[in-house]
Amino acid sequence: MTEILATSEAGSELRPVPMSDRNGVLEVMRMRRDPFTFADEKQLRYGKVVGLNALGVRIVNASGPDAANEILMNKQKAFANAPAWSYFIGPFFNRGVMLLDFDEHRHHRHILQAAFTPKALKGYLDEMQPMIAERMTRFPTGDVRMFTELKQITLDVALEVFLGLELPEAEANRINQAFIDTVRAGVAYVRKPVPGGRWWKGLRGRKILEEFFYRHIPAKRATQTPDLFSVLCHAESDDGHTFTDEDVVNHMIFVLMAAHDTSTITMTQMAYHLAKHPEWQQRAREQSLELDDSLAYDDLAGMDVLDVVMRESLRLCPPVPAQPRMAIDDTQVQGFFIPKGTMVVVPQMANHRDPAIYAHPHMFDPERFSPERAEDKAHRMAWMPFGGGVHKCIGLYFGQMEIKTVMHHLLRDYEWTVPADYEMPMDYSALPVPKDKLPVQVRRR
Ligand code: HEM
Repeated sequence: MTEILATSEAGSELRPVPMSDRNGVLEVMRMRRDPFTFADEKQLRYGKVVGLNALGVRIVNASGPDAANEILMNKQKAFANAPAWSYFIGPFFNRGVMLLDFDEHRHHRHILQAAFTPKALKGYLDEMQPMIAERMTRFPTGDVRMFTELKQITLDVALEVFLGLELPEAEANRINQAFIDTVRAGVAYVRKPVPGGRWWKGLRGRKILEEFFYRHIPAKRATQTPDLFSVLCHAESDDGHTFTDEDVVNHMIFVLMAAHDTSTITMTQMAYHLAKHPEWQQRAREQSLELDDSLAYDDLAGMDVLDVVMRESLRLCPPVPAQPRMAIDDTQVQGFFIPKGTMVVVPQMANHRDPAIYAHPHMFDPERFSPERAEDKAHRMAWMPFGGGVHKCIGLYFGQMEIKTVMHHLLRDYEWTVPADYEMPMDYSALPVPKDKLPVQVRRR
């Protein structure tokens, strides 16, 4: 007989969530190895809502856009972010805006919004445009690990546009390593600070980052510059609220993390699909060649070929593959009883391949986003790489601007290929990255 999570009170029509009967650790390992087959099997056996034993926690996986809508729109305020995300990244990204809830979240997000207005975005583009163009002149040719190169470019952009600091190479590397350690720590199997382990390195990384940001705050408060760090030091909501030093440090550490890997992963996916589909690479290149080398803010909206390639890449591999929430009251999802204290997950990566919404869902087909087909418009949560509800990604325009700018220069100056039978092997153990860093052949045009 299938085990169940819990029953609701007598007389309630809510159904109990069936629990998967497999061993928790093996379950997590299978999920990380092949999340799509895992999701299909679970749905076939148990339906859209199923409980899993994972890393010692009972997690309810709620598939499908209706469940995503119910959880993320959170009408009853029964789901909270902090207790769910804290489980994964709490000690490393403490009090980042994504780890705040309700009134406190609204207050912080309101101030943070000042850093993402169209005016601020134009300022960031003016900063990043020339440095990306210059950086691209030094892009390597021949055998290139695309992921490694794109990650480095994203880091350079982050240092320039987010920090506005000229750092010596050793210091830049130290900060980068601290970030990598904090991000990797969240998915550690051993969730204790054993010296040398992932968790321990994550805590060490957090300390390095805190010390770094506190050290630079006085100078940033003293003058206004167009970088995010300075913008946060001076950000003021329309009702006059500002951030304390502690808030600035917490938000900087979180935003840098939120921006860095997500953009790198998206560009890597785009580079992969453009290599596998040279006709799309050529189409995107032709559009970029019609524009000036130096992109203006208003050019971005017109890059519709790159836009659908980006959307399709984000559909097939959303950099944040799932969104966890914690039930802070007894509640329900899709008619299933969710007791208080249950972790609930929206599996957007699997949802993005729902055959009820997308034709041939595993296929790369950017035309599905054309106005005629508009498959992503079938449901408000059909395409949700940036999440939904009050925590929807605040950096979505920034991210798309950076991605398009890097890809624009890459397309204009270089061509890249992979062998026809190459399939990118993915590592889903943290955020989804290629195991082999995506080896390509690059040729200067
Ligand atoms: C392709 C790139 C990106 C993707 C796919 C992405 C995805 C996401 C997702 C799914 C969430 C919601 C998580 C949840 O609700 O549990 C989120 C939140 C967030 N993202 Fe992004 N992101 C990207 C780029 C960026 C960039 C460039 C920045 C900053 C410059 C950023 C800053 C944030 C912040 C601050 C939040 C938390 C918002 C809140 O809780 O109010 N993201 N992102």
